[in-house]
Amino acid sequence: MERKDKRKIKITGTGFYVPDKVLTNFDLEKMVNTSDEWIFTRTGIKERRIASKDQATSDLAIEASKLTLKDAGLKVKDIDLIITATSTPDTIFPSTACWIQKGLGADIIPAFDISAGCTGFLYGMILAESMILNGQHKRILLVGGEALTKVTNWKNRNTCILFGDAAGAAILEESHDDSGMLSYYWKADGNLGDLLYQPAGGTRIPASTQSLAQDLHCLQMKGNEVFKHAVKRMEEAALEVLERAGLKKEDIDFLIPHQANKRIIEAIGRRLRVPPEKVYSNIHKYGNVSVASIPICLHELSQEGKLKKGDIVLMDAFGAGFTWAAVTYRW
Ligand code: ACO
Repeated sequence: MERKDKRKIKITGTGFYVPDKVLTNFDLEKMVNTSDEWIFTRTGIKERRIASKDQATSDLAIEASKLTLKDAGLKVKDIDLIITATSTPDTIFPSTACWIQKGLGADIIPAFDISAGCTGFLYGMILAESMILNGQHKRILLVGGEALTKVTNWKNRNTCILFGDAAGAAILEESHDDSGMLSYYWKADGNLGDLLYQPAGGTRIPASTQSLAQDLHCLQMKGNEVFKHAVKRMEEAALEVLERAGLKKEDIDFLIPHQANKRIIEAIGRRLRVPPEKVYSNIHKYGNVSVASIPICLHELSQEGKLKKGDIVLMDAFGAGFTWAAVTYRW
């Protein structure tokens, strides 16, 4: 689908926040039957951050949002919509976005959550584009936050080694120059929902002593199945989004894949023929932080001075749902 509207949105600030507590692979060796060697070779993860007992997703997201507003040179009164992407909300209701609004002391502006697993940040960018280009909103705070370790089964070595807590954010506005979002592609397939999900705590299996005893409030995943779908769908999304922007694989200056597993990240890089030094990865420091991974990568890349004006960045994500999406962006 060729886009008719040539106007674009752009990112005018980024930021992120991770909790102080570090959990290393060596710490995990003392908790479950695993090893630093297994975790690092199978996932690329060395350590991850853990939210404290009194830190909920919004607490991480509020810190990330404040840093992002500062990066953009804005005050909280300058934003007119808050979109939060999360799979680990503070409460089922109100939305985490409303808790963030309260915590930031924002005006009475709209605030809502989107739930699209690890793809949530890109879903949020795509949604923000139409809201800005429709003229409904001028400056959107998009913040992705997760406290996944609160829904982690710490007895299950298949999952507890993978996830971390973090929040990352961006300010989105209409672009008045060449930079900005060039194309997007987004999909979902609910038929595969139970390959990666949190079974209890919603209305399908409400909280009960039995659901707690069976650890059904914790994330469950068929890791190797998810792995295969992630590689296939992320490649599909990347190729589609390049075509929609009229770009070729060789045009990619930086590939930012969702940080789920180093082997997935490398596989996508190989399939798109992007050299390893142009495939950004920070999974060794944070693990899989779901929606927070792409904005954290963006912020680190820009802070490290690696992104030059005009660079083509391809962001690519896959997550629970299943959902998958990609975006091309001219820096
Ligand atoms: N330490 C040691 N051994 C382990 C561990 C561990 N932590 N975990 C599993 N194993 C064992 C298994 O028990 C199995 O042993 P067996 O052969 O005796 O049965 C063996 O290792 C192989 O297990 P697999 O699950 O096949 O291992 P795999 O190579 O697939 O790696 C992993 C597992 C890391 C989970 C991988 O499948 C993965 O990263 N999947 C993708 C996850 C993902 O992309 N999530 C994305 C979205 S996340 C979101 O939306 C919130």
